Amino acid sequence: MITVFGSINVDLVCDVAKIPNPGETVLGSDYSLIPGGKGANQALAARRAGADVRLIGTIGDDDIADAALTELTPAGVDLSAVARRQGTTGVAIITVDARGENTIVVSSGANKATHAGQVGAGAFAATDTLLLQMEVRHEENLQVARRAAEAGARVVLSIAPFAPLTPKELGPASVIVVNEHEAADLARYVGLSARGDQAVVNALARRLDRTVIATLGPNGAVASGPGGLVHVPALPVTPVDTTGAGDTFAGVLAAFLDEGADLRTAMANAAIAGSLSCTKKGAQPSFPTRVDIEAARE
Ligand SMILES: Nc1ncnc2c1ncn2[C@@H]1O[C@H](COP(=O)(O)OP(=O)(O)O)[C@@H](O)[C@H]1O
Ligand SMILES: [Mg+2]
Repeated sequence: MITVFGSINVDLVCDVAKIPNPGETVLGSDYSLIPGGKGANQALAARRAGADVRLIGTIGDDDIADAALTELTPAGVDLSAVARRQGTTGVAIITVDARGENTIVVSSGANKATHAGQVGAGAFAATDTLLLQMEVRHEENLQVARRAAEAGARVVLSIAPFAPLTPKELGPASVIVVNEHEAADLARYVGLSARGDQAVVNALARRLDRTVIATLGPNGAVASGPGGLVHVPALPVTPVDTTGAGDTFAGVLAAFLDEGADLRTAMANAAIAGSLSCTKKGAQPSFPTRVDIEAARE
C-alpha cells in the first residue's frame, strides 16, 4: 500500500504564440483545465502502475475543485482522506509558447492547509511506502514521515520543486528522488563540489547516507546507495510534452519498490514510464498503465 501525502492542483493551461512581457497582453488559445499537483500526479502514476494508493491532501470549495479529481477518481486512487476546506483549490496558471517554453504561477490555495492530522492513527504498516514531495508544508511532511518510519514503512521523498533541505530535514526518507537540476542544487546547498551526474549522485548518497536517485531526462536515471551505482536508460521517444515525466518516474518507482522489486528493476520501469508520459500532451492524461509499461519493456 502506498500513501501519497501531497499537493492537489488544477493546471490552467493556455497556448500562446509568444509569452507576454511585463505590461503586455497577448491573445491565447482556448484554455484547458488539467488535473495536476505533484502529490496527485505521483499518486496517479503509482496507481496506474498497479499499486494500491491512498492520497492525502486538500482541495477548496470553489468551482474548480472537482476538476482536480477527474483522473484520480476513475483510476481508483483512495481519496477518502482528501479534505475539502473553505477557499480556493491549488491552481497552476501556465502559458506555453510555440517553442514549448513556459511560464508557471502556482497558487497553493488549499494545499497550504494540508496537515499531518489528516493521516489517521495506525495508517502505516511495515510493508507500506510513503511518498512525499515539496508542494505542501514540509513540517507536515516530516511529521507524517516520522510516523511512517516508526511503523517500519519505507519513506521516499521527491525534492520537487527544489527546496534547500539540510540532511536533518530529509527526515527518515531512505530514498531521495531529484532531477539533474535539483541534484546540482542540492549538492551545492550541502557544500559538495562534485561535477557530472554520476559523481554528484555518488557524493550526495555518501553525504546524506541514503539512496539518491537523479532522473536525467532522455538519458534515463542514475542512483547511488548501499547497492552501489545503478544506471537505467530512458526509452528513445519523440517527446510531445515532458510535463509530469519526473512525477511519473517517482510514482512508478514507489509502486515497484512497494511490491518488493529491487532498486534497478524499479528504476528501469520508472524510466520507461517517464518516457511514455512524454509522448502525449498534458501531465495526468499521459501517464501509462502497467500494461503500457510492460509492453514497452518487451
Ligand atoms: N526527452 C525524453 N526522452 C525520453 N525519456 C524522457 C525524456 N524526458 C524525460 N524522460 C523520462 O522521464 C524521466 C523523468 O524525466 P526528467 O526530465 O528527468 O524529470 P523532470 O520531469 O523533473 O524534468 C527520465 O528519467 C526519463 O526516463
Ligand atoms: Mg525534464
